[in-house]
Amino acid sequence: MSTLPHGSFLSRHEGQLQLEGCDLAPLAQAHQTPLFVYSKAAMLHALAAYQRGFAGRKALVCYAMKANSTLAVLQVFAQAGCGFDIVSGGELDRALAAGAEPSQVIFSGVGKTRSEMAKALHAGIGCFNVESRAELDVLNAVAMGLGKRAPVSIRVNPNVDAKTHPYISTGLKGNKFGIAHEEVLATYQHAAAQPGLAVVGIDCHIGSQITETSPYLDAMDRVLDLVASIEAAGIPIHHIDFGGGLGIDYQGDTPPAADGLWAQLLAKLDARGYGQRQLMIEPGRSLVGNAGVCLTEVLYLKPGEHKNFCIVDAAMNDLPRPAMYEAYHRIEPLDTRTDTATQTYEVVGPVCESGDWLGHDRELAVVPGDLLAVMSAGAYCMSMSSNYNTRGRAAEVLIDDGQARLIRQRETTADQWRLELPLA
Ligand code: LLP
Repeated sequence: MSTLPHGSFLSRHEGQLQLEGCDLAPLAQAHQTPLFVYSKAAMLHALAAYQRGFAGRKALVCYAMKANSTLAVLQVFAQAGCGFDIVSGGELDRALAAGAEPSQVIFSGVGKTRSEMAKALHAGIGCFNVESRAELDVLNAVAMGLGKRAPVSIRVNPNVDAKTHPYISTGLKGNKFGIAHEEVLATYQHAAAQPGLAVVGIDCHIGSQITETSPYLDAMDRVLDLVASIEAAGIPIHHIDFGGGLGIDYQGDTPPAADGLWAQLLAKLDARGYGQRQLMIEPGRSLVGNAGVCLTEVLYLKPGEHKNFCIVDAAMNDLPRPAMYEAYHRIEPLDTRTDTATQTYEVVGPVCESGDWLGHDRELAVVPGDLLAVMSAGAYCMSMSSNYNTRGRAAEVLIDDGQARLIRQRETTADQWRLELPLA
């Protein structure tokens, strides 16, 4: 059996898997499966590492809510004093519904629409992280049309290799994200000359599931070089937003701890004279990824000539990361069983696609009806889930101070077709 992910608040008590001291099997029985279960204490523990790292500094943690945008999860971070990094008008609605302070909301993304810009201007968000000159011009026009000035940062592409999966690496020249290092100064000069824009900061995000420190240090150097040249051109930069991207332990990964990483980054900022600037960061995965599991039931065991299949009731629509990125999630039985042989299984879901797998070559001692936990499922699982195969989205439970609370009901088929207009 593999070890439990670091920082997950998971443990075993008399063979039973627990999250934050709560037995998981009764939750699966009460709410059925697939079921996401999150630990509030694990989320706050992950946040505390950033808060320790920033002690004595002017810094705002803007939770990148694309990682998990369920309202109760957002409330945990809003109540803990976080701002939010959003990427759509829908995320703005969710953040505000969860009690976000609008001035602590920052809007990232390469394709903001005019109506999303207008909505965010009306709400009074803190900053638009702008990703192209064309977007700057549209934002300027929208703001002027509303008699407002849009606060902007320009997202710079520092051209550093985050050394992560190509689909989640964003800071290299070939990516669609940000403005190339060489064009940044001219773009700031253009922005500063627009009556509908107010330059407030600079922004950078180099990728996700980053497990090394060096890409961050390199990116920081490049961003600070740019701050120096932009300010030398007479444009003050009030805040430095350094994005998100810190990885978590999925499979024995050893990313730096958030406080340790920031000790190194702050040493660099101090050495270069920027240590007292307003700082912002946009972490997503590292705040929620290891705070959640997805519980699933073994439906059938199907022995084969080449492979044995363990067919479970969770699928790629609930847990899309393996199919999309060949991502690894640990899979553990909720109860340890000694009365059946351990075998090597392909753990797969019921969806009609060969890509619908959750784990390759997993050693499990299970029989149908057993419950499994798919680990590290707090980030980019529910928020990327779909209704493919007309499967309802899973239910979600939050463990809050030892009490399990249902925070999302299981979606019914009627919920799914509510907006459809059948022929008479
Ligand atoms: N800021 C920006 C501008 C981003 O694009 C992202 C993530 C974040 C912050 C948060 O990054 P984090 O701290 O979560 O690494 N679905 C993929 C990950 C996509 C990340 C997209 N951008 C996955 O499941 O691995």
